[in-house]
Amino acid sequence: MNYSFQEESAMDLRSLRFLVLWPHKSAMEECLLDVDFAETTRHFSMRNDEGMVVACCTIVQEAKEVSRKKYVLRLRAMAAHPSVRKMGLSKQLLDHVMGIFPGKSFWCDAREVAVPFYLKCGWEIRSEVYHIQQIGPHYLMIKDL
Ligand SMILES: CC(C)(COP(=O)(O)OP(=O)(O)OC[C@H]1O[C@@H](n2cnc3c(N)ncnc32)[C@H](O)[C@@H]1OP(=O)(O)O)[C@@H](O)C(=O)NCCC(=O)NCCS
Repeated sequence: MNYSFQEESAMDLRSLRFLVLWPHKSAMEECLLDVDFAETTRHFSMRNDEGMVVACCTIVQEAKEVSRKKYVLRLRAMAAHPSVRKMGLSKQLLDHVMGIFPGKSFWCDAREVAVPFYLKCGWEIRSEVYHIQQIGPHYLMIKDL
């Protein structure tokens, strides 16, 4: 199977988000973020030969100051379909996406279960654990230049 990077509309990411990120919601139509349609928000995916979105993420212009440094872009809704996990596709997608924003630093609310993935991608933990309702334990993580 071959995979290719795409820039997406949030509408086309709802199905994977529902399956992987927010199965507690009642329908995929609810799997949208308030910032999904902001002019500066951008969505990316990796699709397989059949056109199926197998991994996705969203980049939001939302700055956060951490230890007196400003991280300007927020990574949100990073997800990979269970059928393609641990194949390196999400790391490839993240590397590709970060290359689209040269010179920018990133932050995210990382689910505890995804922390090993982000560490492998060169991100760093910058908080104690905190809890997000309905989702679970998270850590603030950053990716410096
Ligand atoms: C987190 C997630 C996106 C990782 O996707 P993935 O496609 O499996 O990740 P990759 O295959 O690109 O992994 C890159 C590296 O991280 C490692 N890795 C990925 N997930 C891991 C895990 N749960 N535990 C340990 N290592 C992990 C891989 O083994 C790989 O290591 P390598 O470079 O030494 O081979 C995926 O597991 C997922 O969608 N999880 C559920 C949703 C979620 O939690 N999203 C994050 C929200 S903050």
